[in-house]
Amino acid sequence: MNQRELFLNHIAQTSAAPMGLEIIKAEGCLLYDANGKEFLDLIGGISVANIGHRHPKVIEAIQKQLEAYLHIMVYGEFIESPQVQYAKLLADHLPASLNSVYFTNSGTEATEGAMKLAKRVTNRTQIIAFNNSYHGSTQGALSIIGDEYWRNAFRPLLPGVLHLQYNSFESLNEITEQTACVVAETVQAEAGIIIPSKEWMQALRKKCNETGTLLILDEIQTGFGRMGKLLGFEHFDIVPDILLLGKALGGGMPLGGFIADKKLMNHLTENPVLGHITTFGGHPVCCAAGMAAMKVLLEEKLIDTIKEKERLFLSLLVHPKIRSVRSFGLWLAIEFDSFETNKKIIDSCIKQGLLTDWFLFAPHCLRISPPLIISEAQIQETCSILLKAMNLV
Ligand SMILES: Cc1ncc(COP(=O)(O)O)c(C=O)c1O
Repeated sequence: MNQRELFLNHIAQTSAAPMGLEIIKAEGCLLYDANGKEFLDLIGGISVANIGHRHPKVIEAIQKQLEAYLHIMVYGEFIESPQVQYAKLLADHLPASLNSVYFTNSGTEATEGAMKLAKRVTNRTQIIAFNNSYHGSTQGALSIIGDEYWRNAFRPLLPGVLHLQYNSFESLNEITEQTACVVAETVQAEAGIIIPSKEWMQALRKKCNETGTLLILDEIQTGFGRMGKLLGFEHFDIVPDILLLGKALGGGMPLGGFIADKKLMNHLTENPVLGHITTFGGHPVCCAAGMAAMKVLLEEKLIDTIKEKERLFLSLLVHPKIRSVRSFGLWLAIEFDSFETNKKIIDSCIKQGLLTDWFLFAPHCLRISPPLIISEAQIQETCSILLKAMNLV
């Protein structure tokens, strides 16, 4: 059997039409397949490769950690320098109340841990989330996914979950003294980059304060510079009680985390002790890689380049087939009339060496979330391929 047949036979399939590219090398904004074809990566492994693939500083940090140790103990027992130093770096760049980090294996585990923490802190059980939200695929996170199609087949899920309309002032009346937490994306990712108003975000924060409800902001996709600031919530002048991170957090290695004030986080230490357990969460190699990636992001001042690059994309993306372009930083959704049109454009782009896809809840929108290091020349190349693809369909 060739590699493709082995992939189809032995790798669990979750879609009838996987992309099925066989990539053998990745560097910066470029991917190379087994036939030597080069792809400009417009999606960065879905908002993971924010500083590009295999940045030399990340590779160096991984190699250094390999010389020291890999897994040595389950989470939270040993003092592991990569975890400690990365948590300190994160805390130094976050508001003072976000000072205690629980490192997880993934984004969805961060969601799970945060919901558990909110229940323990508030002694309440109701969880509120929003329609068209995505927070992960394990059963707790799936319970709050904002689309019945994905929830329905897996019931029973968590009880006491209420879904509200995102960016609706009226819906905030549903948040009460019974609500343990509200989980929200700062900007809805898989809905196709849906940006709430600053007033609504602030009203959400206020309502949570009034009812003693914890506000959990999911910045798993919005984080690490993509929106032109380190974290998206900085644009809204609010601070969450619990922050969820993942994706770019590990610099290309699997790492998630939920971050809160130490006073809140201490609830995981008793009744029961070990309130959240993980063997591999905060793996030393992942933390070393993530910390190196965050330092690159900050030292190379990549965040300062975002606005200009966004403007360039917006100025070039003009075509009669485009219904609208929603963007926030280096993160864009091009809206077409249908999934069929979008799919044809995506297929044509991939044929022309430009890798992109659509959004889970917005299949008629094309995703642009490239590594933040993408150059102006690469943006120009990207847009000319996109426009050519639009002309072809
Ligand atoms: C906003 C958001 N939250 C949570 C997750 C879940 O992260 P993971 O796939 O690492 O479990 C994702 C993944 O796409 C996401 O986009």
